[in-house]
Amino acid sequence: MVKIKEFFGANFKTNPSMNELYKLLGSYLNDGVAGNDDRDVVVFLSGFPLGHLMNSTDDFLGRLASKGIEFGCQKVGEFEEGSHTGEDSALWLRGLEVPYVLVGHSEERGSYEELEAHKIRIDNLFNRKIKTALENDLNVVYCIGESKWDRSAGMVLGVLSDQSVRGLDRVSSDKMESVTIAYEPRWSIGGEPPTLDEIARIHGSIKKTVGDGVRVVYGGGVNPGNIKGIMGLDCVDGVLVGGASLDAEKFKKIVEYR
Ligand code: PGA
Repeated sequence: MVKIKEFFGANFKTNPSMNELYKLLGSYLNDGVAGNDDRDVVVFLSGFPLGHLMNSTDDFLGRLASKGIEFGCQKVGEFEEGSHTGEDSALWLRGLEVPYVLVGHSEERGSYEELEAHKIRIDNLFNRKIKTALENDLNVVYCIGESKWDRSAGMVLGVLSDQSVRGLDRVSSDKMESVTIAYEPRWSIGGEPPTLDEIARIHGSIKKTVGDGVRVVYGGGVNPGNIKGIMGLDCVDGVLVGGASLDAEKFKKIVEYR
């Protein structure tokens, strides 16, 4: 088994107000949430709060960086520049030295599906976003996951394989070093994860598709009570956390699950 650095992502979504965001990140600092040589800790924000934080006068970002806490943007456009109103650009993120970006979070995937975009077209769009992000030296966390319907139809492994293969089409093996796959069953977001046996089986199958050396993390209903079991599985290299990351104490327990 290839040794892979563990990953702990905090996905704040659009939850904290700006005041609450500063308080929450202050609690991360006070409670001792930290990355180190064995684990990456990355907080995902949307573009506006990220920019605000970068300009904060009290060097908030520097203090977080000194604790090994990195940042990522929750979404990025497929184009570097041009007439694309409302999009964030990978080129901007590169210029601002934002190291990570999320592509294809299920809430993003879901918004395209609501417009009845075909699944193949959605994966192709994510593939273009991933390639633009990688060309701009960003680390990509690419989210894949089946819907409740896919699950009840017994299509989980096929759906995940399609999302992986299409999303990563023509991404070179050296660029794959900057890609993390987040397996997030869509029905488990904000709810309960699948059983440990299911997670183990599915992660094993994803690793077969994308390669043993690629970091594959789990997301969906992760909390301090279930983290030890999830991280104890061979093919799980970390977690992407939504709700529990909004509580510094809970997130610290997750990061320090051992
Ligand atoms: P959750 O969200 O931890 O609240 O289930 C995970 C995510 O949406 O990435």
